Amino acid sequence: MEQYAIKGGNPLVGEVEIGGAKNAALPILAASIMTDETVVIENVPDVRDINALLQAMESIGVVVEHLDRHTIKINASAIHGHVIEDDLIKKIRASYYLIGALLGKYKEAEVVLPGGCNIGSRPIDQHIKGWRALGTQVDIAHGLISAKAECLKGGHIYMDVVSVGATINVMMAAVMAEGQTIIENAAKEPHVVDLANFLNSMGANIKGAGTDVIRIKGVSRLHKTEYAIIPDQIEAGTFMFAAAVTKGDITVKNVIPKHLESISAKLMEIGCEIEESDDAVRVVASKPLRSTHVKTLPYPGFPTDMQPQIAVALAMAQGTSIVTESIFENRFRYVDELTRMGANIKVEGNTAIINGTRRYTGARLTAPDLRAGAALVLAGLAAEGFTLVDDIHFIQRGYEDFELKLQHLGAQIARVETEREIQKFKLKVG
Ligand code: EPZ
Repeated sequence: MEQYAIKGGNPLVGEVEIGGAKNAALPILAASIMTDETVVIENVPDVRDINALLQAMESIGVVVEHLDRHTIKINASAIHGHVIEDDLIKKIRASYYLIGALLGKYKEAEVVLPGGCNIGSRPIDQHIKGWRALGTQVDIAHGLISAKAECLKGGHIYMDVVSVGATINVMMAAVMAEGQTIIENAAKEPHVVDLANFLNSMGANIKGAGTDVIRIKGVSRLHKTEYAIIPDQIEAGTFMFAAAVTKGDITVKNVIPKHLESISAKLMEIGCEIEESDDAVRVVASKPLRSTHVKTLPYPGFPTDMQPQIAVALAMAQGTSIVTESIFENRFRYVDELTRMGANIKVEGNTAIINGTRRYTGARLTAPDLRAGAALVLAGLAAEGFTLVDDIHFIQRGYEDFELKLQHLGAQIARVETEREIQKFKLKVG
C-alpha cells in the first residue's frame, strides 16, 4: 500500500496551479450522457473518483476518449443499458449522479447504491423525494436503487435540508421533464452553478442556480457542447492552509477568488495576509497563528470539506478555538491522529475544542478519509521530524499529483511503498 513519507519543518513557498473541481466534474461528466451528440469537457481533474465514474459510464456503452490528460470527449449515443453494477462505483458517492442523468434522459435507471461512508451516514431521502415529485417510481432492493417514470412531469420541491447531491440530481432529472420544476432551499455551491451552466450550454433552461430557488423549464432535447470545469475550491483551500501551517508564502493560481472568500476570511482572522488578484490568491503566514471559532455551513459558509485543514492550523495557534461541524456527524476521525502528534483537541458531539500547542511532532498516521487525509499531510509538513501517512488512496480520490505540487513548493514529501523506499527517503532528507 502506498504511503506518504514527509519530513516537516520547511516553509512552503511559491506558486501552485489548481486543477478542475472534482465535485463539479462528477455531475458534469454524468450529465454529458444526456445527449446523443458528442460533448468535450476540459479541465477535468485526473483523480480516482473521476476515473471510477468514467469506468462505470463505459460499462453501459458510453464512449470516453481522453484528448489529453484533462480533456475528455464523451459520446453516449450507443448506450446499451440503464443498469450500472460496476463494482468500483460502489465506492464513490457520486455514482448516484448517473441515476439523475439516466432518469432525465431515458426515464429509467438502476444503479448500485453507494455503501456507508467514513464521514457519516449519507441519506438520499431528498434525492428520492425530488424524483418522486417529478412522477418517478423509486425502489431500493438488493443493494440497487431503481428509478422509473412513464413520463417525467415538472414539480415543486422544497428540500428539507440543503443538499448538494439532491439539488444536482433533481436538476438533472428535471431538465427534460414536461413543464416547469421549482427547487426551493436549493444548494448554492459553485459546483451546482457549474452543472447548471453546463446543462444550459447543452440547451437546457435553468435559472436561479446559485440562489435558494432554481427554476427549470423542461426542453425536449439536449445537444453537443464544449465546456471547461471551474477550479477546485477545496484543492485551492488546502494549499492556502498549507501556507498557514508551514509559515509559508503560497500563491494559488487559476482560481476564482470569490469561491474562496470564506476560507480567505478565516485565514485573515488567524493572522495570515491575503492578496487577491483576478484568478489568484496569495497567502503569506509570517506571524504566529491566532485562535478563532468556525462552524461549517453550506455555501457561502465555511465548507465542511475544509474543516480538518483549519483544525490542523488551529491546533498550532495561540489560544483556544472551537470548531463546529454542522454538515456531517463523523468528521473528526482525524483528531486521534493529530493528538498523537501533540495536538490538544477534545471532541464533544459535533464540536472540537482546540487548545493550541506550540508544535507538532512527526508520527505514523492513517488517513481516515479524503479531506482529513490531506489535512494530516499538512500537519506532517508543519511537524518536527518524520511523518508517515498510511491509506493515501483516500487522498488520491480528490487531489491530483498532491505530492508533486507540494514538492514544487519546497516540501520534503515522497510517495513510498516499501521499507526500503522509506529508508531511502530518510537518507535523502537527512
Ligand atoms: C457533497 O456531498 C460533496 N460531494 C462532499 O464532498 C461535501 O462534503 C458535501 O457535498 C457538502 O458540501 C460531492 O460533491 C461528490 P449533501 P453530498 O447532500 O452531496 C444531508 C469531498 O470530500 N442529506 O450536501 O453527499 C447529509 O446527510 C466530499 O469531496 C440528507 O439528509 O452532501 C448532510 O448532512 C465529501 N438527505 C447534508 O444533507 C439527503 O437526501 C449535506 O449533504 C441528502 C443529504
